[in-house]
Amino acid sequence: MQFNRDQFMEEGYLVLREVIPPAELEDLRAGYERMVDRQRDIWARERNPDDPPGGVWETGAQPRLALHRQPLLDLIDGQTANTAEIWLHENTQGVSTQLMGEPDAAVTEMMLMCSPVRDRGPAVWHRDIHPIDTAPLQAYIDDIMENGPRYVQWNISLYDDDVLWVVPGSHVRINTEEENRQLLADPRVPLPGGVQTHLNAGDGVVYITPILHWGSNYSAKLRRTIHGGFCNFTKYEALSYTKHLSVAAQATLKRWNKRSERMQVHTESALRAAIEKNSSAYHAALEEIHPGKGEKGKILTTIFLCKTAFFINLRKNPDLEDGPEDLRRRGTSSHPTTLNWGPEFADRFTPEEAKALWKRFKPLDAKLQRDEEHFFPGFQSGPMRYCFNETPADFGVEEFIASWRS
Ligand SMILES: [Fe+2]
Repeated sequence: MQFNRDQFMEEGYLVLREVIPPAELEDLRAGYERMVDRQRDIWARERNPDDPPGGVWETGAQPRLALHRQPLLDLIDGQTANTAEIWLHENTQGVSTQLMGEPDAAVTEMMLMCSPVRDRGPAVWHRDIHPIDTAPLQAYIDDIMENGPRYVQWNISLYDDDVLWVVPGSHVRINTEEENRQLLADPRVPLPGGVQTHLNAGDGVVYITPILHWGSNYSAKLRRTIHGGFCNFTKYEALSYTKHLSVAAQATLKRWNKRSERMQVHTESALRAAIEKNSSAYHAALEEIHPGKGEKGKILTTIFLCKTAFFINLRKNPDLEDGPEDLRRRGTSSHPTTLNWGPEFADRFTPEEAKALWKRFKPLDAKLQRDEEHFFPGFQSGPMRYCFNETPADFGVEEFIASWRS
């Protein structure tokens, strides 16, 4: 497949034609429709007492299947194996590997976005980050500029789809004043410079997620658009379904799962290095987590580790008094593109270790917040103290390590 990585890095997105080879389209539609039927059964069973008979299928503005999660994961079978295998295709996995500049990009979430049963209109413009449990926008920008994207996201349409808009170039800058004004006035109309993507059935759009983007119209027109991404920090819920996939696909998923386990070990090493105030072990672990990256990449990794440290402490010392309220509300579930590996990972640490760990990261956590709640539009967040945009001034990995001594 031909594509221009320079354009991808500059504009933050690429539309690629025939990501799904035309000869495979009908079978893939059929595979996904079977999964839709299975999900609809689940939604009907799990509906709330006040819901209509179809549950989420009828109430959702954008009913979404999560094939990477149970119970749907266990319902992938021989007839629907292609719904997972499309993520291993040269046109998706191969292209993502090249776009990320990684040796072997691994799939994160495998989802399907569906049209609602009745018109629901436009969603709101946003960037796919929330500073509470990820990082300030500038930390992402710096890392992307220095090292390329750690995560790329895809929409691949099974039917013609022109729902998604993007603002080219917005993945490497904060909002303009004009954008802020417009978003505060009405976040559901085109932004200046916004571009509508036009996907024919089988086409894909791949993008770098801090980009400002917009689900412009959730109408009842048939929409079945595959959605997910690639990153090297994903924990897989289970691999039992892979027995239905090709031998090559099974081997690939096993390889990614092994790497995920190694990444968890390296994450633990970094956190233990912080507990032990061992700076060389900390640097070595960062190098394992994100090899060959520069200072900006290490800062983003350190911010991710700060969030991990918070969640570990929350899990092991739930009655701690000084946890930021914003973060406490987020709970302790895992996150597919940061280093938050979830509750089982947290259980590798004792309550005492968790307390010591949080002590090391708390100064950084304080620097990631303003004194007052504040708000910028275009994020997946309301007002809060965590910085939406800016990273701590004059605070790099060396300063972080130096803060252990105080
Ligand atoms: Fe989004």
